[in-house]
Amino acid sequence: MSTYENILLERHGRVGVITLNRPEALNALNDALMHDVVAAATSLDRDTRIGAIIITGSERAFAAGADIKEMAPQTYMDMYAADWFAGWADLAAVRTPVIAAVAGHALGGGCELAMLCDFILAADTAKFGQPEIKLGVIPGIGGSQRLTRAIGKAKAMEMILTGRTMGAEEAERCGLVARIVPAADLLADALATATAIASRSLPIALLAKEAVNAAFETTLAEGIRFERRLFHSTFATEDQKEGMAAFVEKRTPAFTNR
Ligand code: CAA
Repeated sequence: MSTYENILLERHGRVGVITLNRPEALNALNDALMHDVVAAATSLDRDTRIGAIIITGSERAFAAGADIKEMAPQTYMDMYAADWFAGWADLAAVRTPVIAAVAGHALGGGCELAMLCDFILAADTAKFGQPEIKLGVIPGIGGSQRLTRAIGKAKAMEMILTGRTMGAEEAERCGLVARIVPAADLLADALATATAIASRSLPIALLAKEAVNAAFETTLAEGIRFERRLFHSTFATEDQKEGMAAFVEKRTPAFTNR
């Protein structure tokens, strides 16, 4: 059912799965792949039957970075005129929860794509890094900002200045990934996690995501006030009534996304 050249798109119940599919280039993120991922994710985001999205790669590579061969001949003016990489902002703007399921290499733009998702589930084979410095460039899809927010200045600075990679255990220890899963179970675990998220109220999940993301954009006092207002607004939904009634009546809630 996929009509994209660089990705596979599948629906598993209420979960949309986007699989990066340029095996010959370890899923290097060229411009066409970016457009495919953004188009697929925004179409899933518009589909109210979808309650969670997974972005994944192959066993060998989530993505080995932006496409070096595509970038190599570009001039400053090419990059500036095209506002190279700006298109990824449309993925960050997706409101539906997005999980990155990462096995193998997640380097450069691959690490940045994973961090652009709401959280990362890592196979025990996952390797994260921002090796751009070795190519004479720096991260360009948010790595210097999101990695620093995720793991703190000391580690982010070391990773970005040396270009070294970190394995899944270190990534979990320093808060880059939510959980490590045996590689063979990665997709099943991601699907179970996404299905659990999608089984709840979608509008409430959107509010929860918006509240967490506000933590990166506001002062603590503003963020707490914003959260409280969103919390109040959940009482305007039928799903709040249903969720709390179901608890009191000792039954499973039947959310209707209203
Ligand atoms: N861009 C384009 N092609 C890539 C690529 C990339 N980022 N990464 C791998 N490939 C290609 C290789 O050129 C190779 O193609 P050929 O068979 O045609 O030569 C194929 O994928 C397989 O790769 P390797 O033979 O190198 O596989 P390996 O197992 O020996 O090594 C690797 C794997 C360590 C990931 C190595 O491929 C590598 O170092 N890749 C580049 C990683 C990198 O520097 N990423 C950052 C890119 S810049 C960036 O992302 C900027 C940004 O901020 C967005």
